[in-house]
Amino acid sequence: MPPPRDNAGAAAYTPWVLYLYDWLVLYVTNTFAWKCSTAADLLPLFESTLQAKHLEIGVGTGYFPAKALGRPGSRCKQITLVDLNPSSLAAAKTRISAAAATQSIKVDTVVADAMEPLPFAPSDKFDSITMFYLIHCIPGPLEHKNRVFAVARRQMAPDGVLAGATVLGRSRPMNWLAGILMNTHNRLGIFDNWDDTEEILCRGLRENFEDVTVWVVGRSMLFRATRPRER
Ligand SMILES: C[S@@+](CC[C@H](N)C(=O)[O-])C[C@H]1O[C@@H](n2cnc3c(N)ncnc32)[C@H](O)[C@@H]1O
Repeated sequence: MPPPRDNAGAAAYTPWVLYLYDWLVLYVTNTFAWKCSTAADLLPLFESTLQAKHLEIGVGTGYFPAKALGRPGSRCKQITLVDLNPSSLAAAKTRISAAAATQSIKVDTVVADAMEPLPFAPSDKFDSITMFYLIHCIPGPLEHKNRVFAVARRQMAPDGVLAGATVLGRSRPMNWLAGILMNTHNRLGIFDNWDDTEEILCRGLRENFEDVTVWVVGRSMLFRATRPRER
């Protein structure tokens, strides 16, 4: 099944883009444009979040789960990957399965839109959920994007944890490289984040979770939320 062509934030992740992604995005762009280090800022957040039954939304190449599961002593026994793009799911599943080959970890994939209720039973709850660099890909307005937090809340165990990161909009200073990338990505529809602010995202998190921690590194907002609100 091809990715939806009317959603550039997902369709952009062709096998060729995924081949370049780790170097181009996780190294060059994160280091020099967003100034939020993959190794020093994002990976530690991912690793400290990962629990026995994990849900990863917006998987890209599967870099973060593969790194975390490749290290001895991971608590994770089951990981479910959700993405709108089957190419991302295939690349991530292959990589994560290889990284976790010596451990008995179940890897499932589901093609689904993070903005809609996920195709799991309401009783199917996850101990940890991550969404790294997903929100800036989702078409705005920002209040509408905040639906991803309600989607995550519905699938989260009462003692579970949600974590993620997203690139903020014009409210944060940007160097020339960040300016070029923000302009081209937003023009192409790969990003829709000019108006994304910490305040509005924080409101979306607090509407869905009782404990919310948000911090900004460079141009990225990182977050951690626990205690899903009952509805
Ligand atoms: C920038 S990549 C991030 C990949 C990975 N989490 C990382 O940080 O390296 C965004 C991923 O989100 C997926 N995506 C974009 N919009 C989506 C949506 N509405 N629902 C589910 N997945 C989506 C894309 O297909 C892509 O795999």
